[in-house]
Amino acid sequence: MYMDTSELSFIDGEKGELVYRGFHIDELAGRASFEETVYLLWYGRLPKAEELADFSKRIKAEYELPERVLETVRLCPKDAHPMDVLRTAVSALAMTDPDVADNSREAEIRKGIRLVAKFPAMLAAFQRLREGKEVIKPRSDLDLAANYLYMLTGQVPEESATRAMDMALVLHADHGMNASTFASRVVSATLSDVHAAVTAGIGCLKGPLHGGANQRVVEMLEKIGKPENARKYIEDMFARKERVPGFGHRVYKTLDPRSVHLKKASLEFAKKTGKTDWYEMLTTIQDVMMEKVGPRIAPNVDFYSGSVYAMLGIPLDMFTPIFAMSRVSGWVAHVMEQHGDNRLIRPRVQYVGPKGLKFVPIHKR
Ligand code: SDX
Repeated sequence: MYMDTSELSFIDGEKGELVYRGFHIDELAGRASFEETVYLLWYGRLPKAEELADFSKRIKAEYELPERVLETVRLCPKDAHPMDVLRTAVSALAMTDPDVADNSREAEIRKGIRLVAKFPAMLAAFQRLREGKEVIKPRSDLDLAANYLYMLTGQVPEESATRAMDMALVLHADHGMNASTFASRVVSATLSDVHAAVTAGIGCLKGPLHGGANQRVVEMLEKIGKPENARKYIEDMFARKERVPGFGHRVYKTLDPRSVHLKKASLEFAKKTGKTDWYEMLTTIQDVMMEKVGPRIAPNVDFYSGSVYAMLGIPLDMFTPIFAMSRVSGWVAHVMEQHGDNRLIRPRVQYVGPKGLKFVPIHKR
């Protein structure tokens, strides 16, 4: 039963396929840049060289944070969760956006470019501030993935790190009617604005059953400690009837195609850094899960992504914000699609409570 139609992305849960605007994710991962993928989602086709150059230029021109937004990030407590800082910064950004009240496609492209362009700076600024360091200004000669990594350390990242980051952003950009996208569509269907819709998406993605799982996978690896402990740790989780983070999916009943690319990136980094423990734990967990629950509860996008981010030197609680840094492009695409042919989204729920009760004055209750 479908709530609506969409031209943005398609998931075949039985075959384990993900398609963005007609392109299987395997066609795009490692080949299309994140900026190219955003263009594809928003315009429905891959850009020509000059179109991509112009689109990238428009994004780079919007990297900087308005002073009011940076001030809002500065005011956030250092121990706040970065997803809470992100949704607060997006709300502040809305108050600086000249197009905020305009839901036309042209205005939403401009607002979408500002949102995609500024998420990295919002997150990197908070990271630097909570480390007690100076905020590093974005560099408009770097593409989005490289610029994010640069703003964390002040060092231009190695090509392999940029490639891994860029591919992770491509893989997380859109995914049918997942919970946070649904939240964004419900908000935009009331004719509220894209900033409000994105704030709702961030709040939803934070949950551990959704985007928050990648952080929990690495927390699990840290608790397991060594590869030889992995099997028993998972068996104990099963004994406690706990869900293993990074496994299972409401739609995929086989391997999430995104996890295949992230597994390769995780192995590449493990070999490059010589830190193979985590990769060995992850593959052992995957084997144990196959033995225990079989192929239909398979690794999802969150299972290997955390190990890649950790090897890029990204702090644990920044993993889900990176998911949001990519998925904001999908949320914006869905808001534009919704506003393009809008009808209020108002599901019905079956009432199973009592009926016909009579009021009893309080002194007689
Ligand atoms: C994302 O929707 C999207 O597209 C989301 C996403 C996106 O790109 O936007 O793909 C990103 O959110 C990926 C999912 C990240 N979440 C996690 O990794 C958290 C762990 N996963 C589970 O909590 C669970 O698999 C869900 C929430 C993802 C799906 O839950 P469902 O639909 O209830 O799972 P199911 O009906 O297929 O489960 C059937 C059985 C369960 O039986 P019950 O306990 O309900 O009787 O399979 C078992 C479980 O026994 N099972 C698991 C399991 N997931 C399902 N057993 C152990 N570990 C798990 N992770």
